[in-house]
Amino acid sequence: MSDWVNVAREGDIPPGSFRVADVDGASIVVFNIGGGYYAIEDVCTHDGGQLTGGHVEGDVIVCPRHGARFCIRTGEALSAPAYEPTATFPVRVEEGEIQVRDTRWD
Ligand code: FES
Repeated sequence: MSDWVNVAREGDIPPGSFRVADVDGASIVVFNIGGGYYAIEDVCTHDGGQLTGGHVEGDVIVCPRHGARFCIRTGEALSAPAYEPTATFPVRVEEGEIQVRDTRWD
């Protein structure tokens, strides 16, 4: 089972913002949406583009390359040209540290 990895201290990702972390070689982005933390892979399933840098509208991020939209809460691809979801990851807060785990290696 993979380990939990510290991404930021609680309070370092205020609502409406995000932080990108390298987790065992994967680029994972943790968002704070209305006080809840959500983690997705920072990869667009259309052509492998980086999602961060795209516009965030509520709980949706728009890929800056060709405009595919993804739900930050579920990873679901909401519009073409992406059809496959991007990976999601569990997030927890332990002793003030926001942590994520790459469960794909379990
Ligand atoms: S790489 Fe994201 S829409 Fe094309």
